[in-house]
Amino acid sequence: MRIILYTGKGGVGKTTIAAATGIKLAELGYKTIVISLDVAHSLRDAFDNHEKLVRQREEKQIQIRENLWIQEINVQEAIVEYWNDVYGYIRSLLNRSGLDSLVAEEIAVFPGMEEICALLYINQYVREKSYDVIILDCAPTGESLRFVSIPTTLEWYMRHIFKLERNLAKVAGPVIERVSSVPIPRDNYFQNIQDLFDKLEGIDGVLTDPKITTVRLVTNPEKIVIKETQRAFMYFCLYGLCIDAVIINRIFPDSVDSAYFEAWKRSQQRYITEATDYFSDVPIWKVNLFTEEIVGEHGLHRLADTLYSGINPADQFSEERPYQFQKMGDTYQLSMRLPFLSKEEIGLTKHGDELIITVGGFKQHIALPRTLSNKKTSGAKLTGNQLVIKFEGESRI
Ligand SMILES: Nc1ncnc2c1ncn2[C@@H]1O[C@H](COP(=O)(O)OP(=O)(O)OP(=O)(O)O)[C@@H](O)[C@H]1O
Ligand SMILES: [Mg+2]
Repeated sequence: MRIILYTGKGGVGKTTIAAATGIKLAELGYKTIVISLDVAHSLRDAFDNHEKLVRQREEKQIQIRENLWIQEINVQEAIVEYWNDVYGYIRSLLNRSGLDSLVAEEIAVFPGMEEICALLYINQYVREKSYDVIILDCAPTGESLRFVSIPTTLEWYMRHIFKLERNLAKVAGPVIERVSSVPIPRDNYFQNIQDLFDKLEGIDGVLTDPKITTVRLVTNPEKIVIKETQRAFMYFCLYGLCIDAVIINRIFPDSVDSAYFEAWKRSQQRYITEATDYFSDVPIWKVNLFTEEIVGEHGLHRLADTLYSGINPADQFSEERPYQFQKMGDTYQLSMRLPFLSKEEIGLTKHGDELIITVGGFKQHIALPRTLSNKKTSGAKLTGNQLVIKFEGESRI
């Protein structure tokens, strides 16, 4: 079982490459599904197979050819399936606040709900072993990061907030409702969240197991795109995901020799060399700019052939765990791969059995093994790509 994420900045070629990978894997005999996590879906358009798409309009998973399915997550449908009680409560809350009911329905789909729906499907396929390979065509980088951070955020919410809220609603709910017009969630709302959480159980382990899940960053040889790819590389490491390839797409081929493109070609070469230096610990695959847009199975097939000549895309191309715990004499340490950062950008706090690492607006809660939870951190050092945090003695916390 493999899960492969294709992500990167808007418009770099994620959907096209994810779709082409699906075709290649299906041909190699893997039962494959390509799932689009982007709300602005374009996966169906990439396949451009009108007849099949119309015939299977009602299906969640559309079969494109032998061994190959595609799925565009439909949030409204997933909400009916998984979220009814939570959604109903939020809608009633918004309705009471005087919002138009149509608007209330729209915004009751709160941020993160789409990603959770996608995770629910993925975990179901993993549990039921429905496919050999799940390819995720991700939304542009920022949203993909929200997607991979959700399991830890939910875990945190369930551990710290959920029980408290549920008990509070039970005890104080009737009193509050007598004095205020705000509806208090009934227990079915909490039960719904508990059920969702049970359905998601284990997904964080699946996403951070490099034997199962790897991320491939799609980029273009341009300054701003490469910069964003570096940040994405670091953030995926922060969330414990293994990146096993960087794909540089839309390279002008040598055969383009018009003077008009000279400056473009020179700057592309510069950024390809830079990218090769930056991402030297993972394979870099290159794809030329085709003479036309890549749509339909024929075009995708051509792309797959150039991208994966002699390569099986289901293989793992790096197994390096983004972080690991080690014992060195009397001290324990956590080493974490965090490239492209200076120490000023990293914030660290230890809180009981959790280590909280912040970088920019992103936060990662790392659950510490029991042996470390009662120790105190005795130093952190950033050397090259590695952040090393040491733990010693008994904790004061
Ligand atoms: N190597 C290439 N040669 C020619 N056209 C390409 C190439 N790669 C992608 N394209 C075209 O560029 C357009 C954008 O590609 P695609 O939709 O795959 O990008 P994306 O990263 O998924 O975009 P979004 O962020 O909007 O989801 C498509 O029309 C696609 O056919
Ligand atoms: Mg796309």
